[in-house]
Amino acid sequence: MWTTSILVLHCFATLVLAGGSGGKNRTLNQLAVQQGLHYFGSASDNLSGSWDDEPYVDILLKSHEFGQITPANAMKWGLVETQRGVYNYTGGDQLVKAGKKAGMVVRGHALVWHSQLPDYVGTITDAATLHSVTFAHIKDEVKHFKGELIAWDVVNEVFEDTGGMRETIFYNLLGEGYIAEAFRAAHAIDKHAKLYLNDYNLEFADAKWETAVSFVQGLVDSGVPIHAVGFQGHLLVGQVPTVETLVKALSAFTDMGLEVAFTEVDIRMEMPFTDDKLAQQAKDYQTVVEACLAVPKCVGITVWDFSDKYSWIPGVFPTQGAALPWDENMQKKPAYGGIVAGLT
Ligand code: G3I
Repeated sequence: MWTTSILVLHCFATLVLAGGSGGKNRTLNQLAVQQGLHYFGSASDNLSGSWDDEPYVDILLKSHEFGQITPANAMKWGLVETQRGVYNYTGGDQLVKAGKKAGMVVRGHALVWHSQLPDYVGTITDAATLHSVTFAHIKDEVKHFKGELIAWDVVNEVFEDTGGMRETIFYNLLGEGYIAEAFRAAHAIDKHAKLYLNDYNLEFADAKWETAVSFVQGLVDSGVPIHAVGFQGHLLVGQVPTVETLVKALSAFTDMGLEVAFTEVDIRMEMPFTDDKLAQQAKDYQTVVEACLAVPKCVGITVWDFSDKYSWIPGVFPTQGAALPWDENMQKKPAYGGIVAGLT
């Protein structure tokens, strides 16, 4: 009698705490947490006008679908420090405040990236100046957001697509040593943020991934404070690696003692979309989710925005799109069901 009452009470409390009603109506984040992930998150560009779109904001900040938010642009160097030494963190601050109010944790993105740099960085031709501006930038931004972020993408996209180090202005002028130094500089200021190396196309366990594995192993062996590798997960419908390949790709890093996460997932298709393509996309999302759940130190999954209305894809790949789990009218697509299937 007592045992039954306690059991019923326990089940009720569990459901209330999970914010759900027995499984069916649980949000992506609630399902993810139930499966042991730290979060299911979304990127959002609060500077793009999307935050004036009420139905969009309702899903992002009020639906509890997401437990983590990443600024798609607001914390990038080219936006926070347009003039050398002059910092403007308004966009990042807005996102942190709104995310926290909505009960979400926040990932920082991205400290050093060869894209979206301020103009003055591109004109630098000597190592001393580049070193000075790079580390001043890292230190100022990490200090500003200290205590607010669960993670920082310290370096972004440092590997060439075919393997080897990407020949960015940083690599060419400073050599690859700037990467270890960037992790050390960030860690010296914020001891709690998990520091990520973040890149795309590591999912295929091919030449690019091999470069990443040996480079990251070198950092770990040298005692560099790198804590994690971010798999961006910008993928194509019908061309997503198998769960086995994804698990192999992720595990190479977790075997080194690091955590991993899918940090920027979207799965695009040639337009127009069809029911068949959307059904395949649902399976592809499920594959990504299953792979993360199969790797104990895969801590979370972030979609690179959640609605096709605000996806970066059509701007860069004009014949492609429909990459996200919600459509342009903020309606859930089959991909949403694929994620739920992966999480249950
Ligand atoms: O800020 C200007 C604005 O003043 C102007 O009116 C507007 C007109 O197009 O452009 C605005 O800049 C845009 C910026 O986003 C902010 O909205 C750029 O044109 C646009 O190219 C830029 O795109 C971003 C892209 O990174 C840049 O490479 C995307 O929103 C962002 O989602 C995307 O995110 C990257 C990750 O950081 C790294 N991994 C790949 C991922 C997708 O490319």
